Amino acid sequence: MQVDVILGLQWGDEGKGKIVDYLADKYDIIARFQGGPNAGHTLVIDGKKHVLHTIPSGIFREGKLNFIGNGVVIDPVTLLKEIDTLEKIGVPVKERLIISKRANLILPTHKILDAASENNKGTSKIGSTLKGIGPTYMDKTGRNGLRAGDMHEKDFMVKYELLKGKHLQLLQIYNFSFELEQVEEEWFEAIEKLKEYAQEESVYFINNALQKGKKILAEGAQGSMLDIDFGTYPFVTSSNTISAAVCTGLGISPKHIGEVIGISKAYCTRVGGGPFPTELEGELGEKLRKEGAEFGATTGRPRRCGWIDLPALHYACMINGVTKIVITKADVLNAFDEFGVCTHYHYDGKQSQELPYDMVNKNIKPVNISFKSWGNIETDQPLPAELKEYVEYLEKYLNIRVSMVSNGPGREQLIDLEAGKILA
Ligand code: GDP
Ligand code: IMO
Ligand code: MG
Repeated sequence: MQVDVILGLQWGDEGKGKIVDYLADKYDIIARFQGGPNAGHTLVIDGKKHVLHTIPSGIFREGKLNFIGNGVVIDPVTLLKEIDTLEKIGVPVKERLIISKRANLILPTHKILDAASENNKGTSKIGSTLKGIGPTYMDKTGRNGLRAGDMHEKDFMVKYELLKGKHLQLLQIYNFSFELEQVEEEWFEAIEKLKEYAQEESVYFINNALQKGKKILAEGAQGSMLDIDFGTYPFVTSSNTISAAVCTGLGISPKHIGEVIGISKAYCTRVGGGPFPTELEGELGEKLRKEGAEFGATTGRPRRCGWIDLPALHYACMINGVTKIVITKADVLNAFDEFGVCTHYHYDGKQSQELPYDMVNKNIKPVNISFKSWGNIETDQPLPAELKEYVEYLEKYLNIRVSMVSNGPGREQLIDLEAGKILA
């Protein structure tokens, strides 16, 4: 059986959670393969909003397994809070959640290091979510990390103290004050409680599932433009966010990858620092933020807003091997009579559809064309003509089918263009 992938094509927050939650019903296992609690995936079910950070967005679906893969970094405290919140509303998390023993743990000192490092960056801050992501992946690749499975081992405390000791030494470089005792206490309490949740030697778990014909949906976090190798470096996250990371983040062979479903907003947002060629800084940007309720699901920070960036989208589709596109937040553009679409960049005295390797030091100007907006989108009606025209333009530019258009945050606010009928 195959693994289908849902991932973000922009700078994150494309609406991945909503689409995963919707499609989860067709799968047996929903698996996160990278990132950690820097993610904030919003689901609106029966009018109620839920935000997930580490737990896959299939958790509300009965009879489905939700798997936190080896490529994910786990903060035990955040994960436990998520579990508590879900259990309080009756979601049987114990029955539905499986954690890879290979997933690396975020220690309290990783978070402190993240904050100290950002603080030290002065005006060139990444705008990290300060969840400890960068320092944890550094320890993973530096071969110093603690993994989820280690919590059951006798030498866990020895390993913990060793790593903490290294961190405390590192922290001496920074002039940064911090408090450790209480957060450490919380962390160990969370570790004890997490021991009650299923952990697996995940490589066999996932490959046996595939052999048994189980259908797996891999849920990306962040977005392609935040990828550590292919994003707007150094204003990126610390993991590979693209489809290739599904293999390394779950332990499966590339031959199992099936559909790669790329999610893009009908416009574009970014939270944190870094290049954003199509950003609208004035009134238009404000209006997009207001109409799209563009505030971070993890940090509450206002998101930077701009028109859709087709050179970046084309690049993201290319590196991911995207087979289908889902356009979200089409309803938000109703607030505008006309909106912009960036078809080219202008830099180094010429127009180009290609992204330069360093987007930070290039003065990139977007070349925009204009489209007319469409008014209300009814889920039980054909697409308005103007929206159809926009969708067809995107398909032609990217040479990929748009399979769905999302017209609201709710689970059922989705138009399935492939089936030629309405989803609900
Ligand atoms: P994710 O990180 O990719 O899962 O996305 P986030 O949850 O961080 O941000 C997407 C936001 O847009 C959330 O508040 C969603 O509820 C909301 N949303 C998703 N799809 C739509 C849509 O089609 N229209 C509108 N208006 N909101 C949407
Ligand atoms: P989801 O999965 C949007 C951004 C941060 C910052 C940069 C590095 O909800 O789409 P990090 O905490 O990883 O060190 O931050 O990446 N970032 C996200 N932006 N959505 C996310 O996740 C993000 N995760 C990280 O704002 O600019
Ligand atoms: Mg998000």
